[in-house]
Amino acid sequence: MKIGLLTSGGDCPGLNAVIRGAVLQGIKTYGDELVGFLHGWRGVLDGRAIELPRARVRGLAREGGTILGTSRTNPIESPGGGIESIERVLDELGVEAIVAIGGEGSLAGAKRLSDAGLPVVGVPKTIDNDLSGTDYTFGFDTAVSIATDALDRLRTTGESHHRCMVAEVMGRHAGWIALHSGMSAGAHAVLIPEQRVSMDQLCTWVREVYERGRAPLVVVAEGFIPEGHDEVLSGKGVEQDGRPRLGGVGEYLTAEIERLTGIETRAAILGHVQRGGAPTGFDRVLATRFGMAAVDLVHDGGWGQMVATRGTEIVRVDFAEAVSGLKTVPQHRWDEARSLFGR
Ligand code: F6P
Repeated sequence: MKIGLLTSGGDCPGLNAVIRGAVLQGIKTYGDELVGFLHGWRGVLDGRAIELPRARVRGLAREGGTILGTSRTNPIESPGGGIESIERVLDELGVEAIVAIGGEGSLAGAKRLSDAGLPVVGVPKTIDNDLSGTDYTFGFDTAVSIATDALDRLRTTGESHHRCMVAEVMGRHAGWIALHSGMSAGAHAVLIPEQRVSMDQLCTWVREVYERGRAPLVVVAEGFIPEGHDEVLSGKGVEQDGRPRLGGVGEYLTAEIERLTGIETRAAILGHVQRGGAPTGFDRVLATRFGMAAVDLVHDGGWGQMVATRGTEIVRVDFAEAVSGLKTVPQHRWDEARSLFGR
């Protein structure tokens, strides 16, 4: 069978491990031929694909980024897109199935294609860990590890100067990266999009920590909505798909904390560092298993489904479940973390 892989949306540590897992499973177990479309759905629309022989994926699990490149191209609405164009390209290249490795937006596109009868299966991907239908996405553990390391470093410089340090992490409209990295590094306050926290409360936590001789460490998710605002801070315009480009809340809070408490405060925006470099061992294993399971799914004709995790098992779920709404931080996880803040 000839199977086409593509990576779509924002990149994420572990994409290459998925590609390697899929290629090895396809070649070793089924005798498949694997190709990779370049730059996400753009490569499908333009008919640009490269061969993926076994030698091409040698040692690939440890490499960050994606050897196929990625884009936020919408397979239906972008110029040259649409069901018929894609069918034509697949026919021309002899590709019999597509494995789309992507996040919410990419899987929504994949769902529309499979609903129209195209042979598409999915692999969920995002550092934000906000996809419904799967307990974990690969990339999340790496992002949390990188953020934890950064927070540990901010803590030592903060302690030296007895300053408050504010770190802004990614995660879009879900607080998973903030919650996990904040708990892991022992932050004194964590602010997430799912919970409103007043400036008064935040400054109380900061003062309590400062007054017992510590340097307050505050972690804020880029999607947190500060008091007095109705929406996220996104002074950076919009993405290609029209969503607001997040970022800036860390600097805003830093100025506010300093103004309201008089405590010297500094901001660090971790940004795309969280998405770069080698995946952790956890993510390499998860991504490899996802890649292998996606090829099994293709051979079972599981169009319109994606691979996912439930506990430690790999399962299959419909695209509909994956795009049914964001998986956000539940109340009990926030309550648990909150009891450690401040004093
Ligand atoms: O969805 C992953 C993510 O890294 C978010 O956490 C972040 O808001 C966004 O992508 C950044 O996107 P871009 O790489 O397009 O700036």
